[in-house]
Amino acid sequence: MAKGVDGILCLLTDKIDNELLDAAGPQLKVVSTMSVGYDHVDVRALEARKVKLGITPGVLTDATADTTVLLALAAARRLREGVDAVIQGKWGTWSPTWLLGSQFTDKTVGIVGLGRIGVAVAQRLKAFGVSRFLYQGNRRKEASEALIGGPVEFADMDRLLRESDVICVCCALNDKTKNMFNYEAFSKMKKSVVFVNTARGGIVDQEGLIRALKEGKLGSVGLDVTVPEPLPTDSELLQFPNCIVLPHIGSGTLETRTAMSEIAIENALAGIHEAALPHPHDE
Ligand code: DGY
Repeated sequence: MAKGVDGILCLLTDKIDNELLDAAGPQLKVVSTMSVGYDHVDVRALEARKVKLGITPGVLTDATADTTVLLALAAARRLREGVDAVIQGKWGTWSPTWLLGSQFTDKTVGIVGLGRIGVAVAQRLKAFGVSRFLYQGNRRKEASEALIGGPVEFADMDRLLRESDVICVCCALNDKTKNMFNYEAFSKMKKSVVFVNTARGGIVDQEGLIRALKEGKLGSVGLDVTVPEPLPTDSELLQFPNCIVLPHIGSGTLETRTAMSEIAIENALAGIHEAALPHPHDE
């Protein structure tokens, strides 16, 4: 399909590499991905061929932040176990001590990657009475801290892992963040931690996560992203009652997916007509 085209409109499941670019040919001007993440694209290969890359930033921030909070709440309040109990007829008489979860009031939330989505997650969680936010990333971000407005501190990873009651992964997948959450990282977390990943599955070393879950090192886990996707139904990850997995639907609202598709088309058309892309990957 790529042979001879001027532009490629792709999804995050399409690998854009030298093989595809060779097949497309030297006339190719633009690759437009209907996603904000572009870890599926070999950016250096595109740059070497002077092919532009467009992405869909901003429009999926709210939907993805909503999903992050949804998973954090679902994990903290043991939603999976509760729903399973109802379906399996295990719902007995109301009990003061049955299926007790944890709440966010006065807790510390760690945000890994304080970009647009990380800020939107913090803004939402603030309303739950969180006492402070810690965040981790390449550098301190004063403007993002101001947008959150509450007690928010730039912390090193070690401190974030040890002091957070809830950890939300909101960073991009790249060479630095790949497998960043491994067994060692999970071992540093509080035993009651609520760990949520709505970014990319590759940021978590899944074997390390499974080991940590087996050893009871984690309170609860909510994932919207895994490796691979779809996650095979016999994956060990699905056997833990305190781990909820969603099928990469972070941005899955009609409003957001409509906006993403419109931006992807605008980027592709601009590239084909040799105009500046409305949303280049490096803006
Ligand atoms: C993206 O755009 O990168 C998201 O993962 C889609 O939900």
